[in-house]
Amino acid sequence: MKCKRCGEPAAVNMRQHRLGLCGEHYLNWFVSQTQRLIEKYTMFAPEARILVAVSGGKDSLALWDVLLRLGYQVEALYIDLGIGEGRYSEESKKFVERFAMDRQNAHYRIVDVQATYGKTIPRLASERRGRKVCSLCGLVKRHIMNRVAYEGEFAAVATGHNLDDEAAVLFQNVLHWQVGYLARQAPVLPSTHPHLARKVKPFFRFYERDTAAYAFLRRVDYVYDECPYARGATSIFYKELLNQLEARSRGAKQQFYLSFLQARQEEGLFSESRAQLELRDCEKCGQPTTAPGLCAFCRLWEES
Ligand code: AMP
Ligand code: FES
Ligand code: ZN
Ligand code: ZN
Repeated sequence: MKCKRCGEPAAVNMRQHRLGLCGEHYLNWFVSQTQRLIEKYTMFAPEARILVAVSGGKDSLALWDVLLRLGYQVEALYIDLGIGEGRYSEESKKFVERFAMDRQNAHYRIVDVQATYGKTIPRLASERRGRKVCSLCGLVKRHIMNRVAYEGEFAAVATGHNLDDEAAVLFQNVLHWQVGYLARQAPVLPSTHPHLARKVKPFFRFYERDTAAYAFLRRVDYVYDECPYARGATSIFYKELLNQLEARSRGAKQQFYLSFLQARQEEGLFSESRAQLELRDCEKCGQPTTAPGLCAFCRLWEES
């Protein structure tokens, strides 16, 4: 296969787009495609300050790289969850630090969960038996991202979710007919409360293999280990199922997710369930919550 732009041998073949590109043209395509999506979905304005949440993995480091190349005012946030007894979280942090060292203007901050709140995620989870580590961890991450975005007056929080992530979540939500989640699953979540950050996913149209290709061609070094709690997770199983589907039917993954967005936008699918939930301020931290009294995050730490 040849590069569609210059005729040189293609380095990346995106079957879902029937597009092959050489390394140089692929990198250009990837960056301009991200910019196009930021504009198309009015994610944020050129002068906006953006907080990019980085895990040390390929997607979020690639996103940080692309936003810097596009000239956005970005700052990264790494949340040290204390996972893996000095291994997983420590390793991930090193890749974030290394990324920043290699570049000018790559500013970042770290929130250490144990230093800030007194316990690592595994410790907190061991005291809260019956709750899955990943869901508890997700709750803590969302709270911290929101707090940092609010305190730092960032216009939006950007995460590295790609199409494989989004399609797997959609699949899971459909299998369980989680109507509330389906109503709120979107590449852009507007701020519906003064203390709630706008959330955007500029990579939501890229396949995981395409973000991996970008990271590889740009020599972005990232953590290869997986979170130990992700092993055997159902989301990974759903990704495998969707990959099998994709192997049989090119573009199926993309169509599954994009048709969902289209049905929601054009046909009003789940619009009734999107009716605004009433949000109030948590009595302790001030973050928005639907529950009376304390938010789920504060309850988590109170109970433990
Ligand atoms: P995951 O839920 O691990 O698939 O991560 C989804 C996105 O959340 C990543 O692309 C990052 O943008 C963000 N993220 C995950 N873990 C962290 C972390 N420890 N610190 C900051 N951001 C994170
Ligand atoms: Fe949160 Fe794995 S990263 S449980
Ligand atoms: Zn080319
Ligand atoms: Zn709270």
